Amino acid sequence: MERVNTLRTTRNLPDGPLLELLETTDKAVARYLKESAREVCRSVFGNEVQLRGLVEWSNVCRRDCYYCGLRRSRALPRYNLTSAQILACCEKAWAKGIDTFVIQGGENPAGALQLVPVVKSIRERWPGAIITLSLGELPFSTYAALREAGANRYLLRHETANPALYGRLHPAPDALESRLACLQELRRLGFQIGMGMMVGSPGQTPENLLEDLRLIQQWRPEMIGIGPFIPQEDTPFTHCPPGSAETTLRLLAILRLMLPTALIPSTTALAVLTGGKEAGLEAGANVMMPVFTPETEKRKYDLYKGKHHV
Ligand code: 5AD
Repeated sequence: MERVNTLRTTRNLPDGPLLELLETTDKAVARYLKESAREVCRSVFGNEVQLRGLVEWSNVCRRDCYYCGLRRSRALPRYNLTSAQILACCEKAWAKGIDTFVIQGGENPAGALQLVPVVKSIRERWPGAIITLSLGELPFSTYAALREAGANRYLLRHETANPALYGRLHPAPDALESRLACLQELRRLGFQIGMGMMVGSPGQTPENLLEDLRLIQQWRPEMIGIGPFIPQEDTPFTHCPPGSAETTLRLLAILRLMLPTALIPSTTALAVLTGGKEAGLEAGANVMMPVFTPETEKRKYDLYKGKHHV
């Protein structure tokens, strides 16, 4: 309990005690950690959960990440939404009172460039909306064009802060360094940025998770997205065990205490393991991202097993 109180008041904790919080078998301590995070969250954001309208605009991806269901070498019917379809998704979200759109897709530089006029149209149609993009690593000139067109935020998970582990999750020449360079450039361009890691990815140690916490503490991103690793069929990691929901919840709670004002979604990957979005919200998350992708394409955005059953 004392560790939780220290974390809460000082927003920090040395490695040893932090690791102990992450691994404790004392259920009362784990519960206190989550309750404290929820309380801090409520004191900052009140009782409201913020909603984002998620538009999965394309599953075309140039990368071949070993864990991901959208990896380029996986057989999967690929799609791109048209500009009109993307706008129609935003319209549906807006009609439900949602003023923040998240346009997400596989990493596809040519496709991303085609989104520039779409972002412009969204900006013109809803001047007060917040436009969040999640399109992977792109040429800096494309980031600049998207920002110029009116985008406000960019989600780019770092996946792991450990360069060696990063190398085990992604084929060469993909590197953590270039991921971080993108995040830095996005920030320089005036985007609010989102970072985050997969919890329990194959080969990850508890110490690796500490490295993630320290990286996030250091960068202080406006948004933090974390979820457990969930194996996907027809990927190199199909037989690896999933990450732990409990560890994910504790990390979420720790991050809420470290960065009280961060926007933290209760992610779908977490919901796959816990059976719903409630557990994340109870551990300090304050955002949910309902999906507005058209029914016809939704199932093709097939990141991990169970995604479509939440
Ligand atoms: N399990 C959990 N999360 C995954 N992602 C991709 N594949 C998986 C998986 N098998 C997440 C990654 C990435 C985003 C596209 O989805 O964190 O950033």
